[in-house]
Amino acid sequence: MPIRVLVAEKDSKKRENLREIIASCHAGCEVVGLARDGHEAMQMTLQLLPDIVFGAYDLPGISGLQTCEMLNALAPDIMFVLVVDNKSPERVEAAMRAGARAVVCMPLQPREIEYLIDDLAEIAKRRCSSEVLEWKDPSRFPKVISVTAAKGGVGKTTIAVNLAVTLARQHPKKVAVVDLYTQFGDVATMFNVRPNHTLAELAPQLSEIDQELIKNYVSEHSSGVHILVASTEPLPLDFITVEHLDSLLSVLKRIYRYVIIDLPPMLHPTSLHVLSYSNIVLLVANLFDLTTATDTKKYYDALGNEHIAKEKVKIILNRVSKVNRIQTADIEAMFDCEILAHVPNDGRLVSAVNQGIPLVMTDGDSAYGRSMERLAGAISGIFVQRPVTPEKTEKGKLLKGRR
Ligand SMILES: Nc1ncnc2c1ncn2[C@@H]1O[C@H](COP(=O)(O)OP(=O)(O)OP(=O)(O)O)[C@@H](O)[C@H]1O
Ligand SMILES: [Mg+2]
Repeated sequence: MPIRVLVAEKDSKKRENLREIIASCHAGCEVVGLARDGHEAMQMTLQLLPDIVFGAYDLPGISGLQTCEMLNALAPDIMFVLVVDNKSPERVEAAMRAGARAVVCMPLQPREIEYLIDDLAEIAKRRCSSEVLEWKDPSRFPKVISVTAAKGGVGKTTIAVNLAVTLARQHPKKVAVVDLYTQFGDVATMFNVRPNHTLAELAPQLSEIDQELIKNYVSEHSSGVHILVASTEPLPLDFITVEHLDSLLSVLKRIYRYVIIDLPPMLHPTSLHVLSYSNIVLLVANLFDLTTATDTKKYYDALGNEHIAKEKVKIILNRVSKVNRIQTADIEAMFDCEILAHVPNDGRLVSAVNQGIPLVMTDGDSAYGRSMERLAGAISGIFVQRPVTPEKTEKGKLLKGRR
């Protein structure tokens, strides 16, 4: 791909001279436009989107420095080279402040321009590298997804497990499920795996954890999901401390694209910390009775009081069926947030749990499987930034004194 250059200079002779030198000094260079003043330079640049603009310092209308500054704000990928008659330190400093990539002095030295274009072409090439493009696409950032609820038994673990398997179809070995229910975690049972080690055993070393060490605590499932469990016997809910969680999650985010955390159904400082760390919080409720709905609403409001951004909290309605006592519309009216998924009731989930095979592995084409696919699709498109959590304010009572 040729490097596309635009030249902006008021004097026609100088402009032609600039064009000739730039076009002839570098084989891979194409001059795509010639502008006579700052306005023209702005317009043509935004229209033609060249890689580099060589703009004179004394452009009429909008000066070279102003043009550079504005282009830097409007099209920061376009690299501006200021062309001056006199390269004083003040001018160079002003050019750098305006966002210029370089300052060159008339008459141009072909060898200097050749090297400069080489350097700028290298920068343009790096910007198109897959690594940079990946960073430009927020949907590809690693995501921490917490699954929680106001009540026990609403289907959190079932959703965490089946969602993980569905996501792992696209990203095998890039999805981890972390069972942080230190008392009655069921993730290992639902996958029928017997973990060799638990996070509770790792706790004394969790602050020094790295990618190598964590491998020993991961159970690899045939679905491509990696499993980590906090404990296989009941332990206090705060057995794994907030500091340990921070180092654990930061390592997991470096290894996995999706880290799904199954949390206990209660507002507990450790869970709240995980929720504040998460990009997406899946708050699971069912439509069985009014207490689940009202408790879910209390939980949702409490998260807001704990400075957990409401935009990242998504309601999942589980076990939806024709015989539900509460209607979806009633729930929607209670919350000012999105109902991200309606997950159908499926009697086969109980035997799937007993067999230790997530339902989406044996019947991905069922209504349940399709609801998981929609949920996975919605999640891959969501990106919520971690909010800054102000501490020690009137709100956030539950988190106070825990950090
Ligand atoms: N959509 C569904 N249709 C039918 N049964 C379901 C559905 N979702 C979950 N279940 C069943 O509900 C029971 C509880 O599910 P699960 O263990 O996932 O709940 P939980 O919220 O994780 O519970 P806990 O609070 O104890 O962790 C399980 O037997 C599961 O098979
Ligand atoms: Mg559970």
